[in-house]
Amino acid sequence: MDKITISVIKADIGGYVGHSSMHPNILTKAMQSLDKHKDKGTIVDFHVSHCGDDLELILTHRLGEESGEIHKMAWDIFVECTELAKKLKLYGAGQDLLSDAFSGNIKGMGPGCAEMTFEERRSEPVIVFAADKTSPGAWNMPLYKMFADPFNTIGLVIDPSMHGGFIFDVLDIFENKTVKLNSPEDIYDLLCLIGASEHYILKGIYKKSGEIAAATSTQKVNLMAGRYVGKDDPVMIIRCQSGFPAVGEVLEPFALSYLVAGWMRGSHWGPFMPVSVDDANPTRFDGPPRVIALGFQITNGTLIGPRDMFADVSYDLARKQANEIANYIRRHGPFEPHRLPLSDMEYTTLPQVLEKLKGRFK
Ligand code: 13P
Ligand code: 13P
Ligand code: MG
Ligand code: MG
Repeated sequence: MDKITISVIKADIGGYVGHSSMHPNILTKAMQSLDKHKDKGTIVDFHVSHCGDDLELILTHRLGEESGEIHKMAWDIFVECTELAKKLKLYGAGQDLLSDAFSGNIKGMGPGCAEMTFEERRSEPVIVFAADKTSPGAWNMPLYKMFADPFNTIGLVIDPSMHGGFIFDVLDIFENKTVKLNSPEDIYDLLCLIGASEHYILKGIYKKSGEIAAATSTQKVNLMAGRYVGKDDPVMIIRCQSGFPAVGEVLEPFALSYLVAGWMRGSHWGPFMPVSVDDANPTRFDGPPRVIALGFQITNGTLIGPRDMFADVSYDLARKQANEIANYIRRHGPFEPHRLPLSDMEYTTLPQVLEKLKGRFK
């Protein structure tokens, strides 16, 4: 059996209304295009979704990771959808398309991309996560909990196929270097890095045998463009069960509405709210930041699903907690630690203010 690749490629090509959601015609357009590519055989299957104002293309195919053909296809769909967004005058049409022409690989051009290739198991449950109003560092804590924390994942203790631990691939986004750390052996070193979630980002997780378990999108729009032009609302793919965390262990970290960087103008800490796709439309102060989880069984490359995993009453309390935290932290207004530190804000007036006040500093 040929290996299957799952590619989740996303971009903000224009918001409806403001940065809050996606216009239904954009989703339809993306689906129609992908239908044609499925008929042609470029892809095996696809699912189109959105989290807030981000368009999510979930694709299965046999062309492997970083395939020029797949990336070009996704890029062309984003361009087509941008044209429609411009016609509708949607907000920030083409926000994530940083270049005028496709350069061979979608990475570094604005869209985000998480990909993995594997031989399908007898049963292949996969969960695709997508977030809005935050950045790729938002996945650090839940990934650590899923794959290294026995208080989250009992499988690490009682499942012989998980007891050996996992390998964490950490990206330093400033140096553009990666380091592989083992759990449980290196967990204190690992936490020393990934606790700084705006600097060190988990890129992938592997079994000790080398088999892929998790992949995230790690493109940081700010650094790519040489300046901060948008928090890169991230995606990730996780394989579940039989040697990987169970579906419930993969979802469990989101029962806590933890704080992530993003929210209004990409410049605030706020609570991460797990929601159904229907509720993935951040409005209050352009948030709070949202995360959706789409569950699939991958069957001969076909995406059976999705199941909308956070459309479950067991996440009601996390949502309530998020609303309470939002209420509390919002009262800090323009003050840290609600507002991000100067170095992490998406934009700032500080240089102009300092220039204006130059003569008044004594
Ligand atoms: P079942 O007995 O329902 O298959 O569940 C097993 C399991 O691992 C649940 O996490
Ligand atoms: P997006 O990154 O989702 O477009 O949000 C930008 C923003 O400024 C929200 O206030
Ligand atoms: Mg936007
Ligand atoms: Mg967005």
